Amino acid sequence: MSGTRVYVPRDSAALAVGADAVAAAIEAEAASRGLAVQVVRNGSRGLLWLETMVEVATAQGRVAYGPVEAEDVASLFEAGFLDGRPHALALGPTDDITWLKRQQRLTFARCGLTDPLSLADYEAQGGLKGLRAALALQPAAIVQQVLDAGLRGRGGAAFPTGIKWRTVAAASAEQKYVVCNADEGDSGTFADRMLMEGDPFMLIEGMAIAGLAVGATKGFVYIRSEYPDAIRTFDEAVRRARAAGVLGASVLGSGRAFDLEWRKGAGSYVCGEETAMLESLEGERGIVRAKPPLPAIEGLFGRPTVINNVLTFAAVPTVLAEGPAHYAGFGAGRSRGTLPFQLAGNIRHGGLFELPFGRTLRELVFDFGGGTASGRPVKAIQVGGPLGAYVPESQWDLPLDYEAYAAVGAVLGHGGVVVHDDSADLAQLARYAMEFCAIESCGKCTPCRIGSTRGVEVIDRITAGREREQQVILLKELCDTMLHGSLCAMGGMTPYPVLSALTHYPRDFGLTQADAA
Ligand SMILES: Cc1cc2nc3c(=O)[nH]c(=O)nc-3n(C[C@H](O)[C@H](O)[C@H](O)COP(=O)(O)O)c2cc1C
Ligand code: SF4
Repeated sequence: MSGTRVYVPRDSAALAVGADAVAAAIEAEAASRGLAVQVVRNGSRGLLWLETMVEVATAQGRVAYGPVEAEDVASLFEAGFLDGRPHALALGPTDDITWLKRQQRLTFARCGLTDPLSLADYEAQGGLKGLRAALALQPAAIVQQVLDAGLRGRGGAAFPTGIKWRTVAAASAEQKYVVCNADEGDSGTFADRMLMEGDPFMLIEGMAIAGLAVGATKGFVYIRSEYPDAIRTFDEAVRRARAAGVLGASVLGSGRAFDLEWRKGAGSYVCGEETAMLESLEGERGIVRAKPPLPAIEGLFGRPTVINNVLTFAAVPTVLAEGPAHYAGFGAGRSRGTLPFQLAGNIRHGGLFELPFGRTLRELVFDFGGGTASGRPVKAIQVGGPLGAYVPESQWDLPLDYEAYAAVGAVLGHGGVVVHDDSADLAQLARYAMEFCAIESCGKCTPCRIGSTRGVEVIDRITAGREREQQVILLKELCDTMLHGSLCAMGGMTPYPVLSALTHYPRDFGLTQADAA
């Protein structure tokens, strides 16, 4: 195929606003004008308010236009967009777009740049370099690189990845597994989806490196059931990787085996908890397992298993390709590398912004996000998913790193950031956290199963003004029990949004600051 390359994202955020119609309109318009155009379906750059963001490959580099709708296509041709000429929707050279330029893209470096299903594109942009480097190393040396990079789990708990891998590597078993958690249940998060749709070979490469490091020949990816486009793209990527010998009996001709399959998730939030996910993968109901034994020792089908989030695995090829010092060179304190933050909720510029740890929430929400979509003042920002704390303005200048957030009773989690304006009622949001826990609880332990329902009732009594003082004490005691007595973080972290709402927004509960203290 030849002709001017025009990029139209195939990411589901772009599809949702008509990207397929835009692609079809471009092809039809080019045909009617007798112009040679090659439409490439790329991943998203993550600037979701600009979707559908169309890019044209010109002699001066790629030039972007957005948000483009099918009706805009004729006028784009008229204006000469195939040569990168001006138009009301012109955004200029893609590389100069402020929101991209100010990011530090390591994990998402290729996302939006390439055709996600082209292995040739992938390799041309540095893909497989990490896997080749890993194949030249002893397993222990691969683990050491991951340790030296300071990589920590991006799924929520921020556990050091190298330590987990070392445990699995040291376990002796005939069969070991690598499992990728792509359940992505956190509110306002979409980075796993974007990566699987926009650069799926990177996940495959990261998992293959993990397999080599720990001696596992088989991997499974547990993908959220609500992600049909990600499933379709990832399925095709696995087929192509297998056909090209990236996966299979002899990874890149090395004589070492690694292959993987994906499974569709069961549609429950708690199935993202790693042991419930293992149950679900084994065909059982997603109920949390007691630990120990750790999955690293007895995981999938009772075998030693590495479990990591999509973003954790996707960070690994860069570590191996560029060296651990390069990766560890970004970040703050013990939080090394970058985190792809996802801005959602009441936000003007929602999307994915990959930044080194250490920047601030204020920068993220205002400089990148442009404040609220409603134009009203920001009141509260929930960071780290539905079990994350509501962060008040007094903490918006803290460095975004795991320890700084832990010190104020907050978490970064999977990098989800949900913004609320001043019309939000934090008492209702606290109630919702308890209700969410009651609905999603797997039911195995009492503090979570019963505590969450009692939590809803107690908050209702507080907001109704019934025995407020006693009920606040009761709510705090209940949160304490859930925090310390729950089997997993579902019940264990529900107090985070509840207590942060109570502490920082007492007036929404009909309380004074002193009542809530
Ligand atoms: C209720 C609950 C839901 C979770 N959902 C997810 C999820 O959707 N994706 C994920 O990667 N981790 C999720 N986790 C965290 C996993 O249990 C586990 O820590 C993670 O997959 C490990 O990978 P990492 O070390 O790369 O972060 C969840 C935890 C809990 C308690
Ligand atoms: S805390 Fe909740 S989700 Fe976790 S094991 Fe207990 S009942 Fe299940």
